Amino acid sequence: MVCLGNICRSPLAQGILEKYAPNDWVIDSAGTSGWHADERPDTRSILTAKERGINIDQQRSRTVTIADFEDFDILFAMDSSNYSNLIQLAPSQAAKQKVRLILNESYPGENRQVPDPYTGGQQGFTEVYALLDEAIQSFLKTH
Ligand code: 4NP
Repeated sequence: MVCLGNICRSPLAQGILEKYAPNDWVIDSAGTSGWHADERPDTRSILTAKERGINIDQQRSRTVTIADFEDFDILFAMDSSNYSNLIQLAPSQAAKQKVRLILNESYPGENRQVPDPYTGGQQGFTEVYALLDEAIQSFLKTH
């Protein structure tokens, strides 16, 4: 799960997928920037998750790396900026094919974006949670 800062959207996506996925899946999140390295998720993401029974307190922000293309089968981008950053970083054609926009799981082919909630209020995080939950439930139905 990849966003820009790895403190707002992708930690929520990681927490939701960890809650519903089979136990043997390896799930992680990262940011394309290193701006918040080693920080906890944003308090608004922590609260949004907690209200829905998901604890993301223990997550720490990190930057996405080339190794992630080897370690993971799918890299989900939250928006088209994350998507193009991942495509640029991808070391091979096979690696590029692992990159997907997450809302294409729930809205196939529409290339919808998970809006960046960082500069807004709590409501933005509630909306992000709902979009991610919907996308992840759709993804899990087919995997
Ligand atoms: P995220 O949100 O990419 O969902 O983690 C952001 C977090 C921090 C910043 C931007 C977006 N920032 O500019 O520091």
